[in-house]
Amino acid sequence: MEKDGSQDIAAEIFAQEDPIFRNKSLVEVEHVPSPERIVGRDDEIRALSTELRSAVNGDSPENVILYGETGTGKSLVAKHVAKAAKSNAGDVRIGTVYVDCSTDDTETQAISSIARTLNDEAVTDIRVPETGLAKAAYYTRLYAILDQQYDVVIIILDEADMHPDDQILMSLSRAVETGKTDCRIGLIAISNKVRWAEDLNDRVKSSLQPRELNFHSYDANQLRAILSHRRDAFREGVLSDDVVPLCAAYAAQDHGDARQAIDVLRNAGMLAQRDGSNVVTRDHVEDAKMEAEKDRFRDLIGGLTVQKKLVLSAVTALHKGTDDDEFSMAQIIETYTQLCEATGTSTRSDRRVRDFVRRLAFLDILELRKQNLGRAGGITIYARLQPDHDLDIVHQTAMDDEQFVVADSDAENASLDSF
Ligand SMILES: Nc1ncnc2c1ncn2[C@@H]1O[C@H](COP(=O)(O)OP(=O)(O)OP(=O)(O)O)[C@@H](O)[C@H]1O
Ligand SMILES: [Mg+2]
Repeated sequence: MEKDGSQDIAAEIFAQEDPIFRNKSLVEVEHVPSPERIVGRDDEIRALSTELRSAVNGDSPENVILYGETGTGKSLVAKHVAKAAKSNAGDVRIGTVYVDCSTDDTETQAISSIARTLNDEAVTDIRVPETGLAKAAYYTRLYAILDQQYDVVIIILDEADMHPDDQILMSLSRAVETGKTDCRIGLIAISNKVRWAEDLNDRVKSSLQPRELNFHSYDANQLRAILSHRRDAFREGVLSDDVVPLCAAYAAQDHGDARQAIDVLRNAGMLAQRDGSNVVTRDHVEDAKMEAEKDRFRDLIGGLTVQKKLVLSAVTALHKGTDDDEFSMAQIIETYTQLCEATGTSTRSDRRVRDFVRRLAFLDILELRKQNLGRAGGITIYARLQPDHDLDIVHQTAMDDEQFVVADSDAENASLDSF
């Protein structure tokens, strides 16, 4: 059969070896690195292992709270140490389970998920339906499973702050004491909200008696080491020398987030691939950084109300339309009013617009300068786009909102209440 031309093109591309990546999964978001690729977390691994050590003797492990900024290896270290406890347990029957509380965000769902993961139906003869039972019934089945199958379980509750009350921590930490089960339970609760651990109420704290481990952000050297241990995601000779240090420096400048560093490295590789290049260069990293900034900015702006976006658009429109470096409130209000008319959105009072400008400054999107004009003139505020931001990116992102026309009444409620 004769192939048509377009089929050949696709076939040819699929038949080619990937010129950039040898094992791309090493730099994918969901990849869990093997122990030899975990670097710069020896102290945290040691500390957490120490707290859990009794588990391998069949005794109660300590409860631990891990907290720290996003991308600092909390989830990774928790999974790694729990797995190590299990594989070093000898005759002691250790179960481990990982729950993402942002997905299983009710107590019932989380308990159902824990019970289903730990249950071996062939052993217990207990069936755990995913949904449909009352909370108490899930707890009962969970405790029956624990008693039949395990001496000790280690339960990782990741993103634990997503549960509005801390009842699950309370119930699980008191299970032995209240006679619900003989199985020893160790909890590892993880949060990137540093205040969450502090704010846990006293009742929960006194039953949990948690050890707290703070995960510090990575510095550029640690990030470099983390990335270097994933170099074999790429083919030999593909990464030019400055690529890894650049990605590491970029993430270190921000707040030392390993995920961000890995993302930029992977995206630089993808950009090189799209260019048809067989090396990843400094320029690819710069472009990947730019893309990452855009994404972040979209996230930041995406959460703003329509009214705040209009005020921001007024400032960016002024920047684009004039040579001035900063703008008075009067100029901003005038342009904002024009934009409201153009988009069919009702205007807010001048005082509200001033509030919006202050709020945008608080979010580091705008920068303000106060000028005291003396007794007669009072204080005038000038605003400009925070110079770190790219004007075009901000302008496009702020103006790009299909709600400008339709969602005005919602926006009013939201914006009036949101600060
Ligand atoms: N020390 C490390 N060595 C190797 N890879 C790491 C290290 N720390 C983090 N990573 C990688 O960086 C990414 C983020 O790590 P992890 O998910 O553990 O962060 P986290 O602290 O749980 O962040 P969040 O608070 O956002 O959940 C993962 O892909 C992980 O594999
Ligand atoms: Mg995590």
